[in-house]
Amino acid sequence: MTRGRVGTSAKRIGLLGAGTVGSALCELIGEADLNAAITQVLVRDPEKARAGCVPHRALTTDADAVLENSDVVVELMGGTGLASELMLRALAAGKRVVTANKAVLAEQWDAFSPFLEAGTLYFEAAVMAGTPTVGPLSGALRGSKPQELHAILNGTCNYILGELEAGAEFKDALNEAQRLGYAEADPSLDVGGFDAAHKLTILGRLAFDPALSWEAVKANTHGIGHLTPAIVKEAMEDGGRLRLVGSIYPEEGRWRAAVRPVYLPPEHPLSGSASNRNGLLFKGDAVGEVLITGAGAGAAPTASAVLADLLDALAERPGPRPLQRSAPVPEGYEAQPLGEVLLVGEPS
Ligand SMILES: NC(=O)c1ccc[n+]([C@@H]2O[C@H](COP(=O)([O-])OP(=O)(O)OC[C@H]3O[C@@H](n4cnc5c(N)ncnc54)[C@H](OP(=O)(O)O)[C@@H]3O)[C@@H](O)[C@H]2O)c1
Repeated sequence: MTRGRVGTSAKRIGLLGAGTVGSALCELIGEADLNAAITQVLVRDPEKARAGCVPHRALTTDADAVLENSDVVVELMGGTGLASELMLRALAAGKRVVTANKAVLAEQWDAFSPFLEAGTLYFEAAVMAGTPTVGPLSGALRGSKPQELHAILNGTCNYILGELEAGAEFKDALNEAQRLGYAEADPSLDVGGFDAAHKLTILGRLAFDPALSWEAVKANTHGIGHLTPAIVKEAMEDGGRLRLVGSIYPEEGRWRAAVRPVYLPPEHPLSGSASNRNGLLFKGDAVGEVLITGAGAGAAPTASAVLADLLDALAERPGPRPLQRSAPVPEGYEAQPLGEVLLVGEPS
């Protein structure tokens, strides 16, 4: 055993991935007082230079060995192929699994349903990193009937738009977002709006409709690749801003989910989100308006949510409760309109 406390009753943590988030998690585990330790760490290249906190001797390319030598599995590889397969194998073997992988959950939710029902899957870090959203939407906010949700969910887009406001070129802003560790390994997921759409799909299933389909959200997704400093600055002339916003709201008797760049007037609760922040505005009939804001990406903020989930998993507390049936679509309710700017200069 390596990072963490070693003892006869210590649980074994199998880590899948030691990149941006996995390395930060190793550091947090090294500082935490866990009755558990990382036994093995799956990577592609064990010879690659890594932060000193990553237990070098635990690195392996043998996925089977990681699953066999673990009680709890933490998946921080990303992607919808091997990561999904290994998580499902670990869950089927009765292990608890912690993941930050929104793509897998958005696109393959049904495969994970039995384990969501069993409470053995944990994914707070998958949406807005260490800023809590999965917990509130599957917990405290369930006491209200939802009316609408609007959220800035992608740190890379938010950062890029903040830089465009300051006059930077798109390419330079994206490079800097990658350097800061905000961007996904494949930045087209960020810029095309799909990362935000993955997160919105998860939130929608937790609070609005458990059957919300990924295909439906994807069909209503538009990114920011066509925006320029000039377009962004024009929106700022009367104090507003352009932001990539994911929304769920009632439309013609159904819940509609969409991701697109919108104009936020200065008084909108989300327009104050700084470029390195995410924000989520929830409206419920009883609770009213709730604003959650904080870091939505980055190594340490994401790892902090993973560690919190890991603490629950090690203590065998259940993961987030899935929604059992669709929330009623409010009748005669007027959702707050947002100025959609998705067609401005967007390639057809
Ligand atoms: N970065 C963020 O701010 C952030 C925020 C929220 C959620 N997330 C999610 O967290 C997860 C990890 O993101 P990340 O930014 O840490 O990714 P990353 O830096 O690309 O790290 C991925 C890690 O997984 C390993 N890996 C990938 N494919 C593998 C394979 N086929 N076999 C063995 N090992 C493999 C890599 O090994 P090598 O090191 O050898 O290449 C690397 O250690 C993703 O699901 C992402 O969406 C990230």
